[in-house]
Amino acid sequence: MPRPLEALIHLQALQHNLQRARAAAPDARVWAVVKANAYGHVLDRVFEGLRAADGFALLDIAEAERLRKMDWRGPILLIEGTFDVRDLEWCSRLGLWHTVHCEQQIDWLAMHKTEWPHHVFLKMNTGMNRLGFRPDAFRQAWVRLSSLPQVDEISLMTHFSDADGPRGIAHQAQVFHTTCDDLPGERSLCNSAATLRHAQDPAIRGDWVRPGVMLYGASPDFPEHDATHWGLQPAMTLRSRVIGVQHLLPGETVGYGSRFTAPQAMRIGVVACGYADGYPRHASDGTPVLVDGQRTRLIGRVSMDMLTVDLTDLPQAHMGSEVTLWGQGPEVNGQATTLSIDEVAHHCGTIGYELMCALSPRVHVEVLQPHHG
Ligand SMILES: Cc1ncc(COP(=O)(O)O)c(C=O)c1O
Repeated sequence: MPRPLEALIHLQALQHNLQRARAAAPDARVWAVVKANAYGHVLDRVFEGLRAADGFALLDIAEAERLRKMDWRGPILLIEGTFDVRDLEWCSRLGLWHTVHCEQQIDWLAMHKTEWPHHVFLKMNTGMNRLGFRPDAFRQAWVRLSSLPQVDEISLMTHFSDADGPRGIAHQAQVFHTTCDDLPGERSLCNSAATLRHAQDPAIRGDWVRPGVMLYGASPDFPEHDATHWGLQPAMTLRSRVIGVQHLLPGETVGYGSRFTAPQAMRIGVVACGYADGYPRHASDGTPVLVDGQRTRLIGRVSMDMLTVDLTDLPQAHMGSEVTLWGQGPEVNGQATTLSIDEVAHHCGTIGYELMCALSPRVHVEVLQPHHG
């Protein structure tokens, strides 16, 4: 028998979450952001679930090529643009739209020989200070781009640093609008947090939204709001089984470094999942875990291939009991159970994004078709 650890990808959840993005930004078109190999879900596995998107946004040309091989003929946007002048040949060949965020990328375009002029997304740095032209250089970049025969359409974009938090987006949105309100072209501003929290305003919504993490069923602003609040469903489940049971006497310890000491007699379960599978080693005692759909907690340090959970209050749990590390659990008394990846991440000092991206290639993955839930 293979090791009983597996990840499930729920195509139905991807479809549902894409619908949520559409509902939050009515009339806008939706880029499904699938960078980082679809946030760790693997592009080829999520494609069917997200094919109702208007386009796919990513940053590796190799991933764009894979989408074309899957027969995706619609728009693909490279959200970091080109890394080298030769990338433009790939953009022409594969029909990719690309972000332009610096002078060097315009220089490359000016040198590029192509029969097919490109659609570019000119990026403004409105305060994130990662990629993009500062507002005072933005218009000049636009003028330069519009004079190039290699370019036939210029859309305008920016990216928010605080759409998920109290600082919000107003200051950046204002910079964006004052700088480019009179320029023609489609607009794209919103990531998941901005789509869910701010896209009711048509000026913020723009023509294209760029949701990423919400499509995979994680909340972009946890713990302020959880995935249930936003009506999102987990697109990835990581599940395993209890492969060993131990009975501890008071004062005995568990695992490497004896991090956890039993305050009283306890029963613990050993689960086939460790940091070599992508489960974070620094998960703290108390990180939630479902055993047969019932909530319990991680205790002791996570090791390479195993972790340990408290079964003291779950007398019915046994060797072979199903363990949900995150995602959709088994039904209990006819009720669906879930364990939010955001909550697990919170106990590990990180965010759901990092956990999903870190799923290890050694984990067996099953893609569930929509009718299987
Ligand atoms: C330019 C851009 N747009 C959209 C996204 C999607 O963000 P999120 O996953 O928070 O929705 C990202 C992700 O970092 C990004 O860099």
